Parts: sequence; C-alpha cells; structure tokens
Amino acid sequence: MRDQYGREINYLRISLTDRCNLRCCYCRPEIARQLAHSEILTYEEILTVCKAAAALGVQRFKVTGGEPLLRRDCVFFLHQLKLLAERGKVTLTTNGILLPAVVPELVKMGLDGINISLDTLDRQRYAQITGVDRLAEVLQAIRQACAAGIKVKLNCVPLQDMTFAELLELVAFAQNLQVPLRFIELMPLSCNNAVEGLAGSEIRSRLTAAGFTLTPDKNIYGGGPAVYYQLENRKAPIGFIEPLHGKFCACCNRIRLTATGYLKTCLYGHSGVDLRELLRSGADDTKLQQAILQAARQKPLGHDFEHAPAAFTMNEIGG
Ligand code: 5AD
Ligand code: SF4
Repeated sequence: MRDQYGREINYLRISLTDRCNLRCCYCRPEIARQLAHSEILTYEEILTVCKAAAALGVQRFKVTGGEPLLRRDCVFFLHQLKLLAERGKVTLTTNGILLPAVVPELVKMGLDGINISLDTLDRQRYAQITGVDRLAEVLQAIRQACAAGIKVKLNCVPLQDMTFAELLELVAFAQNLQVPLRFIELMPLSCNNAVEGLAGSEIRSRLTAAGFTLTPDKNIYGGGPAVYYQLENRKAPIGFIEPLHGKFCACCNRIRLTATGYLKTCLYGHSGVDLRELLRSGADDTKLQQAILQAARQKPLGHDFEHAPAAFTMNEIGG
C-alpha cells in the first residue's frame, strides 16, 4: 500500500505490551500507568490486524514492547505471526533480560532476527541507565542468541556522558561477535527532557580520531532507516539511526500498532485509527483493510521533533 506522498508502506511494528522490566532513563515507563488486560488487544486480535496488513502488502513485522517477552506466550504469538507472514519477515526487539529461556524456541519457530538493546558494557553505567544491575544476563543472552544462529543486531542509544572507553568496548564486543551495532539518536520525548544524547556525527568523529576508517556500506541489513559503515578489516557493520540529524521521513515505510490497538501512522503525533474499536464492533476483514489503508494514506509527511518533543513514551508505542 502507498500513502498520499507515494511512500510504500510495507513494515508494521507491533507493541505487545507497555510493561517493561527496565526503567531506562530516557524512557522510564511508569508502573502506575500500566494498561489493564481488557485495554490490550488479544493475540487473536493482533493476528487479525496483521493478516489484513499482510493482504495490503506488509511484509515485515517487528514485535516490540515495552518488553515483549514479558507478555505471556509471546513465543507462541511470534510463531503464529511467522506462519501468517509466510515469506515475510518476523523480528523481535528486546532488552534481552528474558531472552535466554526462549532462544531454543525462537530458533525452532524460525524467527528472522532479534534486536537487543545494549547501551553500555560497563556494569555500573548499565545499572545507572536502565535502573537494574542485570548487564551480565543481557550479555549472556546476546552470546546465546548468536551461538544459536539467530540474526542479532545490537541497539545502543548513546548518551552525552558516554566515555570513549565505553564506545570502544561496544564496538569491539560487536565486532568480536560479528553482529551489526547501531547507534540510535535519542529522540526527545516528554518523559526524557533531562537526558541528552550523543549525536551520530560525534560518534563517527570520535571513531575516526581514534584511527578507524569508516567506509559507507550500501548493503541492506534490514528494512529500516539505519545508515551503515564498515570499519576497515572488521567483521560487522556499524549503523546509525538519526531521526533528527539524518531525518529519514521521506523514505519511511512503516506504521505502528500500539498494545491498545491504535494504528499510529507516524512515531510523532497522533494520526492513525483506533482498530480496537473496529475489531470489537465486529468489523470484517474488508472493513479492517479499508481502515488501515485509509489511515496509511493519511500518514504525515514527517515528524516535528525539531520544534517540540513528542507527547508519548517509547514503551507505549515500541519505538
Ligand atoms: N530515542 C531513541 N531510541 C529510544 N529507545 C527507547 N527510547 C528511545 C528514545 N527516546 C530505543 C530503545 C530500544 C529501541 C526499541 O528504542 O533503547 O533499543
Ligand atoms: Fe524498557 Fe525499552 Fe523503555 Fe528501556 S527503552 S525502559 S528496555 S521499553
């Protein structure tokens, strides 16, 4: 399906829950605001939406949260989604804490990839950033997923006070495991105005100053907006996702389903459609497809982070 600006929409991000077992300083989901079960789409309802989206040309499904593995039977859901997607791709974004227990099942069901959040390799800094002292478990999860043959990518949201040693450690860790490491520019949300991110350009110049050569890498490592570089003689690319400094709205291919069933057509703002209401009022597949298509057509041209922070928290919409 295409929007009014001609952009092809073929990627759906699905937030399974607003709950999270971390409290990252730039996200901080509030326990008090957790949604009730009745507010959240059932797996059956989500799969109905995915089926309609697939019929409209969506080929990539990214399952996120909060922390998606906190939702009961998440792996069962991923498997059902994978069957529905046929030749499409189903991937997961997780903070990795609950990953070790499910790695074998994820391999078995044929998951197409996992993005794991890893902002630092320094135990104290990890605890400071996420609010929990569980770095060792996450590292174990990353190694285990790699060893099991799952395609892993690491996501780092670099903060202003990230040291050069931390940066080098992260790069070395990713290179050793031969997995792509992506630096995601911090997006200003209303919940994180006290936190400052580090720009991608700053990371590139720090690496260059340290003697690394960054060569643009035109290979495609997923369906997203990351721009990749290869390090000389190294084994895995380094990516940069820069929603502000490398504004990529003009080639945005995605829409988002919140845990409550609101189909958001842009990360920023509220444009979209309430699919939960439609689903629960007995709409058939045709009606659902029409609603998705109509909302997708109205997808805004782009975000306005430059002028105002967005009024949502990341755990509500899953990034
Ligand atoms: N800006 C950029 N990335 C963010 N994430 C969470 N909040 C923000 C933000 N404000 C990241 C997480 C995770 C991914 C799903 O989104 O660290 O890697
Ligand atoms: Fe949880 Fe992700 Fe928010 Fe961190 S950024 S608190 S892992 S939802």
